[in-house]
Amino acid sequence: MKTLLEVKDLKKYFKTPHGMLHAVDGVNFSIEEGKTLGVVGESGCGKSTLGRVILHLLERSDGQIIFDGEDISSPSKSRLKELRKDMQIIFQDPYSSIDPRMKVSDIIGEPMKIYKTCKSNDEYNKKVSELMDTVGLAQRVANSYPHELDGGRRQRIGIARALALDPRFIVCDEPVSALDVSIQAQILNLMQDLQDQRGLTYIFITHNLSVVKHISDDICVMYLGKLVEKCDAKELFKNQLHPYTKALLSAIPRHKLNAKHERIILKGELTSPINPKPGCRFAPRCLYAEEKCFQCDPQLTEVKSNHFVACHCVNKLNNI
Ligand SMILES: Nc1ncnc2c1ncn2[C@@H]1O[C@H](COP(=O)(O)OP(=O)(O)OP(=O)(O)O)[C@@H](O)[C@H]1O
Ligand SMILES: [Mg+2]
Repeated sequence: MKTLLEVKDLKKYFKTPHGMLHAVDGVNFSIEEGKTLGVVGESGCGKSTLGRVILHLLERSDGQIIFDGEDISSPSKSRLKELRKDMQIIFQDPYSSIDPRMKVSDIIGEPMKIYKTCKSNDEYNKKVSELMDTVGLAQRVANSYPHELDGGRRQRIGIARALALDPRFIVCDEPVSALDVSIQAQILNLMQDLQDQRGLTYIFITHNLSVVKHISDDICVMYLGKLVEKCDAKELFKNQLHPYTKALLSAIPRHKLNAKHERIILKGELTSPINPKPGCRFAPRCLYAEEKCFQCDPQLTEVKSNHFVACHCVNKLNNI
């Protein structure tokens, strides 16, 4: 398998009136081509910022982005335009990312017009119609406006538009969070079928743990701009090692009434991402924090084969 995307010590800081906000603070990971990396964590932990920095929708503060072996950390304007064909995004709320005055066929076809990828009108119309088939949109809605359609169909438009330039990599930022549960499953299945057919590589951002379990090969857990745990999706749900991940997963509702399950309620305040103090960002809320946790930052370390955790106490807590 080949690595399609790698980020090294990626950082994005925002200047605010109160100081520097460390939204993404030294993130490292790689994704193999054709795979899905799930990114989970509470609201405000930096998931969307991470996705946007990788796509150059936001400029990084530091670190490296390597795509298909090429360092694309600071691409030229013309290279960035080319890269946009390969690297796309599907947004959380399909309606807000779509111009409500455009018809469905125009929304889907617009990227092909901007990039002049079709030689004739006939080729353009054929491509739009094929894309509608691909994402399961009936041809009769081609002349509809997005507000006339339900959320599931609107997200299908967003997916078709993201596919229009035949990308290799897509950042999916909460793509099903605004949808009813039954529609969520349809869209997730569509995205998985498209991945199989086209060999697509996804970063799948969500705060919904059931969704991320379903779709990811590997999962990163983020806490205030940093990765605290990273491993195979099955391993994470079976054998999570970081105290924050344990608390996060304990909040998933269980279906079996007799299942032994204790919810871990996090106490203490969420640390501010503005001018963060040294030490583990999770320490103020951690039940097991020791003195050293407040003094130095734990690095993401491989504690078991292909299972990375950033916690000073990981061995002690898990009897490793
Ligand atoms: N343009 C900006 N200027 C200043 N701060 C920002 C900006 N964009 C994001 N932030 C801050 O960066 C941090 C990370 O935000 P981000 O939107 O990436 O979080 P998220 O994990 O995607 O949250 P959610 O689950 O709510 O979508 C937050 O503290 C947010 O307030
Ligand atoms: Mg977000």
